[in-house]
Amino acid sequence: MPEQPFLERILFSEEQLAQRVRELGRQISADYRGKKPLFVGILRGCVLFYSDLIKNVSVDCTLDFMCLSSYSGTGSTGHVRTMLDLRESIQGRHVVIVEDIVDTGLTLDYLMNHLKDRGAASIEICCLLDKPSNRKVDVTPKYVGFTIENEFVIGYGLDYNELYRNLPYIGVFKKQ
Ligand code: IMP
Repeated sequence: MPEQPFLERILFSEEQLAQRVRELGRQISADYRGKKPLFVGILRGCVLFYSDLIKNVSVDCTLDFMCLSSYSGTGSTGHVRTMLDLRESIQGRHVVIVEDIVDTGLTLDYLMNHLKDRGAASIEICCLLDKPSNRKVDVTPKYVGFTIENEFVIGYGLDYNELYRNLPYIGVFKKQ
């Protein structure tokens, strides 16, 4: 691949992502056999991961989305807002939250608090990437694609100021 001015290095290739997402899909399918989970995608970062993940889920399931906002440039603002809420009720449902990356944990902490009184049978988190060294609150995803260092990454749904989500791989962003 030609050198990209915005890229420090590639972290996970398209093939590595596909293989790990397949494994996650299989693991979730085994864990949720007979349970008809509801996959809640957190927009917009989840889109590529979400669509590849559910293609690898072999149990009956339904889909819904939320849009939360907390990031600006390469830093979390710490103020999370709901831009788009769920359309379906989660009463009695087994919910799997699908997120691109858990960084400080503030977004998912807000989300778990937001959903906890809505009567779900269970709520688990599935994230493609986990940056545990930057955690500010206690959030533990059950399903993690890859654990990474505290670096700002782009591609495969992840953005810098809304750019680079369409890259088929994940790379470390090069600050200009
Ligand atoms: P948290 O609230 O700090 O855990 O951040 C969660 C959200 O921040 C993710 O859903 C991403 O949208 C964004 N984010 C965190 N780290 C990165 C990164 O390295 N690249 C791009 N977006 C990130």
